[in-house]
Amino acid sequence: MDPVLWPDLKEKRILLAVSGGIAAYKAAELCRLLIRCGAHVQVVMTRAAREFVGEATFAALSGEQVATRLFDPQREASISHIELTDEADLLLLAPATANLLAQMAGGLASDLVTTLYLAFQGPVVVAPAMNVKMWAHVATQQNAAVLRERGHLFVGPAEGEMACGHVGAGRMSEPEDVLLAVGYALTPSCLKGRRVLITAGSTREPLDSVRFIANHSSGKMGFALAVEAAAQGAEVTLVAGPGALEAPAGVAFERVGTAEEMATRVLQNVAAVDVIVMAAAVADYRPLEVSPVKLKKEVWGDEPQVTLERTQDILQTLGERFGAGGGPVLVGFAAESAPDTASLDTLAREKLARKRCHLLVANDISRADAGFAGDSNRVVIYAPDGSREDVPLAGKRHIASRVLAQVVQLLEDRRLAAGGGRSPVRDRP
Ligand code: PMT
Repeated sequence: MDPVLWPDLKEKRILLAVSGGIAAYKAAELCRLLIRCGAHVQVVMTRAAREFVGEATFAALSGEQVATRLFDPQREASISHIELTDEADLLLLAPATANLLAQMAGGLASDLVTTLYLAFQGPVVVAPAMNVKMWAHVATQQNAAVLRERGHLFVGPAEGEMACGHVGAGRMSEPEDVLLAVGYALTPSCLKGRRVLITAGSTREPLDSVRFIANHSSGKMGFALAVEAAAQGAEVTLVAGPGALEAPAGVAFERVGTAEEMATRVLQNVAAVDVIVMAAAVADYRPLEVSPVKLKKEVWGDEPQVTLERTQDILQTLGERFGAGGGPVLVGFAAESAPDTASLDTLAREKLARKRCHLLVANDISRADAGFAGDSNRVVIYAPDGSREDVPLAGKRHIASRVLAQVVQLLEDRRLAAGGGRSPVRDRP
């Protein structure tokens, strides 16, 4: 996964509980990722976990002494085990064995990890890992159901070949997928119950069987929006042009090639979504004629002429249909090369009016640290009522959270205008 999609965990305190299984080695990588995202990590290990990975590994990675025993006089003198839970923002159990799930479900407090679980009142993320048959056993399934019922977020187990040679569900999810789940659990679910469609990346308009016209969009902005919307509880569909970024976990993903394919996918989905965010850099033109074979230089000559035709403007089509209301919230992006802020303002407001969208996010692509391909962006978000929000230079995931904050506000305004009562927007437990 591209680091641009990682959650911002600055000032978050994570209690990482590692139980005994071969997957304990994956918790070391997870610990490293959490710290790279800015979190403070306190590792707690069961006795069995220490049979697989030594405390020294986690102590070195987290920069903190690892807690292992319930009654450790030395440790209790500085910080009691209950204090560990008071300070934490999230309890992450990774890997969580069948035995640990059973103890948690039953409310047993037989060691430090299970005692901390009982004393902790914040969000809990569980990454199970065990033998395929143990995971499939009705007892484990019932325990997992009890824990899900309590509001704990499960990530995995993933399917694949296990260390014991069995194939099926039981592997601990990859550390990056667990990291995303931690971000989800710490993000207020402002888009819970909402269906959001996001486009990302460039389209490719073929000239012949090997050549095409495209642009430098990497898809990072659109993917960051998709991951952030999913973290906020939305049901997300991401329609992306060709590119190197992999489908993010927890998002329905559709890969398309041309502008026409992107238009088809967006327009097919329109009736089923509450929000459409067009972050893709859709080609405005495509070659009028496409050769089914590679065009030879002998045929093209020294000064080939290519005739282009306009593609369908997807956002404008949506704006004409729904700009006046009654359809999804429409968010457009504008990639502008503006000589100054006033010109960006004029260009963006003109585009907002012409495409009749409900929000327009303008990025100045003449700046090296914004717009296409990089990890950062700086944008101005325009609304039809004349208001604007300047979002200074930041990572694309942060930019995505600012854009979605405005979307949430628009959805809330619509709900109130329709005579809605109490807000369905609520934070996760
Ligand atoms: O992918 P990254 O490398 O992270 O880069 C991000 C980005 C710079 C591509 C992104 O932030 C951005 O600005 N996306 C929109 C780029 C663009 O096509 O801008 P535009 O001003 O040409 O188009 C305006 C809007 O109309 C856009 O929402 C676009 O998706 C939409 N459009 C354009 C053409 C078309 N045929 N159909 C459309 O729907």
